[in-house]
Order: sequence, then C-alpha cells, then structure tokens
Amino acid sequence: MFTLAPNPLITEKEIKKRVTQMAEEIAVEYENVGPVMAIALLRGSYVFTADLLRELSRQGQTVQEIDFIIASSYGAATESSGNVQIVRDVGSDISGKHVLIIDDILDSGNTMHRLQELLLSRKPASLKICVLLDKPSRREKKIEADYIGFKIDDHFVVGYGLDFDQRFRELPYIGLIEERA
Ligand code: IMP
Ligand code: MG
Repeated sequence: MFTLAPNPLITEKEIKKRVTQMAEEIAVEYENVGPVMAIALLRGSYVFTADLLRELSRQGQTVQEIDFIIASSYGAATESSGNVQIVRDVGSDISGKHVLIIDDILDSGNTMHRLQELLLSRKPASLKICVLLDKPSRREKKIEADYIGFKIDDHFVVGYGLDFDQRFRELPYIGLIEERA
C-alpha cells in the first residue's frame, strides 16, 4: 500500500523562498532579453507556474503570454514511458519568442526531451527550461533544466501540483509517497 509520509520533504516556507530566488535569477537573465512567453505543462506545474509568474511580475519581468501543453506518458503508474504524446498543444505561434518551459519535475527526461525537440522545430528566439524539482539519478535522456528549484533523490513526491494517481496536488508542501507492507 502507498501512503503519504507524515513529514514534508520540502516545506511550504522552503518552496516560497526558493521560488522567489528562482524568479530573481530569471528576471536578471531576461532583463536584456525581453518579454517571456511561458509554456507550462499541465497538470503538474499549475501551482508552481502560478507562483513563479506572479513572483516574476513582482520582479518587474514582463510575461507576454502564458500557454499550456498537456503531454502524457503516464498511466496510474509511477514510471514514465518513452512514448510521449502531446495531448494538448499551445494555441499560438512561438516563432521569434523567448520561450520558458515550466514543469513540476524533471525525471527520466523523456517528456521534456520530446517537448524541447517539438518546440525548437518552431523556431523560438530562445528556449529555456525551468523545473521546480529535478531527479537527476533517473535520467534516461540527455537533458538538463536551465533553472532548478531543488534536486532530490529518487523518491516519488506529491503536493504543490504533483500527484500520485491524481491525488495530493492540493498539498501546500512537497511530500513523500511511501510503500507500507
Ligand atoms: P519524465 O518524462 O520521466 O521526466 O516525467 C516527467 C513527468 O512525470 C513530470 O512532469 C511529472 O508529471 C511526472 N513525475 C515524475 N516524477 C514524479 C514524482 O515523483 N511525483 C509526481 N509526478 C512525477
Ligand atoms: Mg507532468
């Protein structure tokens, strides 16, 4: 049986502090670049995206557009497959725009690798990747994020948008799923 561990892996306070730092970092780097087009991956990144973009706005960074992609390679399992499907694509032209892809977690890298390939083929002015969490030990594709909130060990985590079989997205912190006998 899988259950939610009682203690957070990353607290609400730690997340807030780190998201602010990330926004500062991004705002500094884009200061002389221009407005950002944010492309968030649903559903996992919805909380992170909302917090990050509002923080970017506080830092004076213009976000010219926010769009969403739904990519799918998961069923109810905790492993992604290499077979990534784009279930919902962005609605507008990204050519010539400074695109920032936002996701909850970089795990095997299969999803992001596929997405990067797809979006690069549409000739954005630039393309960067921003993730709240990174599990580098599980990488199957050669891909790194430009902005990373926290590197974590090989745990299955939930909360702050991330789910386990669609549960726990609403938790304000990052928690751990544990297997109990
Ligand atoms: P990847 O293609 O293996 O890199 O998978 C990326 C996607 O898998 C993320 O966007 C998440 O939606 C999901 N994912 C990977 N690890 C976790 C986890 O620990 N908890 C919840 N979702 C995860
Ligand atoms: Mg996801």
